[in-house]
Amino acid sequence: MSEQATKTGTSISMLRCIGCGRTALADRFRCEHCRDLLEIIYPGWDERGPGGLSSAALKQLWRNRRSSLDPVDQSGVWRFREILPEISSHKIITIREGNTPVYELPHCAKSAGMKQLFAKHQGMNPTGSFKDTGMTVAASFARHAGYRWVACASTGNTSASMAAYAARGGLHSLVLIPDGKISWSKLSQSLDYGAITCQLKTDFDGCVRVLNEVVERMPVYLLNSVNPYRVEGQKTAAFELLEQFDWQPPDHIIVPGGNLANSSAIGKALREMKQLGFISQLPKVSVIQAEGANPLVRTIRETSGEKLVPVHAETMATAIRIGNPASWKKALRVIRETGGTVEQVSEVEIAVAKAEIGAEGIGCEPASAVTLAGLKKLVKSGFVKANESVVLVLTGHLLKDSEFTLKFHRGDLFTGTPQQSEAEVVKTHQRAPLVLEPSVDAVIALLQSAEK
Ligand code: F0G
Repeated sequence: MSEQATKTGTSISMLRCIGCGRTALADRFRCEHCRDLLEIIYPGWDERGPGGLSSAALKQLWRNRRSSLDPVDQSGVWRFREILPEISSHKIITIREGNTPVYELPHCAKSAGMKQLFAKHQGMNPTGSFKDTGMTVAASFARHAGYRWVACASTGNTSASMAAYAARGGLHSLVLIPDGKISWSKLSQSLDYGAITCQLKTDFDGCVRVLNEVVERMPVYLLNSVNPYRVEGQKTAAFELLEQFDWQPPDHIIVPGGNLANSSAIGKALREMKQLGFISQLPKVSVIQAEGANPLVRTIRETSGEKLVPVHAETMATAIRIGNPASWKKALRVIRETGGTVEQVSEVEIAVAKAEIGAEGIGCEPASAVTLAGLKKLVKSGFVKANESVVLVLTGHLLKDSEFTLKFHRGDLFTGTPQQSEAEVVKTHQRAPLVLEPSVDAVIALLQSAEK
């Protein structure tokens, strides 16, 4: 690709370095001068707005597209295409991602000490995670730019998503995942969708190091979240969320933090919505990490955000088992700009929060449950007030990690001995499967005892 910019409708998108501000070629990931990450900007918006339309006209257009029969309009990502880089419509790969629900969680609200609580469930995407919203844009760009191969290193969800979009788009895909440290359901997805799947005897950060070299040497397009097109797609979840709130911003948005692209994408969307006059106030974006995989929390608490503190990551929430997050500077900027914060939560807190979200009839994977666990702490510390409006971003579907769920309910998730108080909290949420004789009386006796 030799052009500096890709045309979008009536505006132009360009890649710009987040560090030195220099522009870059359309298929690069890092600045050639300072090695910082790149982001997509739309210089034409200042004069004409996206697609030359006002915010009121865009709101109407995006809503109307939901009743269209065109697959591109039916996508909850591409219906917002005026705020995305232009990709020829015949190159677009869509599995009708986005358009995910917002649920109210009354019991979780109570348990967190809130009057009301909402969750935007990104696990309701076609492959069961928020990754689909970014993947549809980046995989489509790969096709548009003429690549035949795409690749990613992953903790399981990116790989599942990439494999699906590659298959739909006629691309070959290569997946590098940490051996034995991702859930079976995620691994099975990338196998079923036909990716070449390699389990490397290392962690996620090790897989990233290997892949970065591979893509330097081979004509393979990198679909990790350093890819700025992924961030553009993921951005639409925040536009959609605001649409679902009739463009009244909530006070807080709470996001799990792994490689930190999702928080970056949500923050970029909010910044753009403010720039374009969709909203006048920014919700506070807060990022929650697992205690054992807390590089952003440590970076902010120990260096005031000056320097990344990489960690050796360890958590049962395998999706966010990441010690050296690529997008930490972008996420830090979002937290600062919006007045959000960071928090970390323990393994027991994650498991209990996950069970609580499950008991609402919604469910999510462990990494998503850090949001509720983190909210409880933010309410206790006074950062979030009981009457404020809060949206948790649930990133993955409950069925992404059934093993975790089964182990929790059977009582063998925690092999060490959690403290007495923790053990009791865990117990109140456990629903172990009951094995009974095939007798009517036995089932009725059980029902009667459950009524008491
Ligand atoms: N939640 C889930 C379910 C995830 O799969 C991930 C990341 C995150 C949260 C964190 O998002 O990295 O943007 O901060 N999973 C990646 C993967 C790394 O490879 O699937 P982030």
